[in-house]
Amino acid sequence: MRQLAVGTNIKMYLGYRDTVAWMEQLAGTLGGFREVELFAFVPAVCLVDAGRILGGTPVGYGAQNMHWAEAGPYTGELSAGMLKELGCTHVELGHMERRRYFGETDREVNRKLRRALDSGLRAVVCLGEEGRAAETEVRRHLERQLEVVLAGVDPAETGDFLLAYEPAWAIGVDEAASPGYVEEMHAHLRRTVAGLLGQAAAERLKIVYGGSVTPDTAGKLCRLPDVDGLFVGRSALDVERFRGIIEDASHWHNRATD
Ligand code: PGA
Repeated sequence: MRQLAVGTNIKMYLGYRDTVAWMEQLAGTLGGFREVELFAFVPAVCLVDAGRILGGTPVGYGAQNMHWAEAGPYTGELSAGMLKELGCTHVELGHMERRRYFGETDREVNRKLRRALDSGLRAVVCLGEEGRAAETEVRRHLERQLEVVLAGVDPAETGDFLLAYEPAWAIGVDEAASPGYVEEMHAHLRRTVAGLLGQAAAERLKIVYGGSVTPDTAGKLCRLPDVDGLFVGRSALDVERFRGIIEDASHWHNRATD
């Protein structure tokens, strides 16, 4: 059974001080969820504070992006080594906004994933289609993304990172993708990983869903067999709301896997 994973990316929504206050609330509120893999991606300027506040709690933390190189002339970038020095457990790679606004490609995400695996950071690798399209087209798009993003990954490594399926059209809107659609795409992602790396590797891999998750949808999504958790944006800015999502996700995930 794959352990439930619930994480959040708070993007650039809050200032420095408000992010620190948010992390303090998170640490105070989520201390009890030892059975869930929890993680929070915060702005890089808050990572030192994250170590002080979230280190030793069940909430893993990390940066919203990093470079693939170990070190070098890469202005404005962060290395895996720096993140490790700050105690980061996780790193977010290939988010839709990185792709849309900064031109990040699957090939770059693949190189970053390699660096994360070699550095002992648990990557949350985001992928998904940009716009709504026919399901056969979406399936083909996901296959192509996986082929590039997972190139060179060893089957034994699929327990060391997560995939986040995030259809771009469902991010930052009113409603998440429907549970039927999400299950269909998660199952397809898992089948594709099985084709690339083998069945056992695919069974080990956690695939979480992201895109307008709310307390209303969390349970409905987490009772689906191929949904191993959630990646939450706006709904996690209110820590109590986020706690409600984790509680519901946990309840329904446990029922589905009993
Ligand atoms: P949202 O963001 O929950 O605010 O739609 C999700 C994401 O970008 O991962």
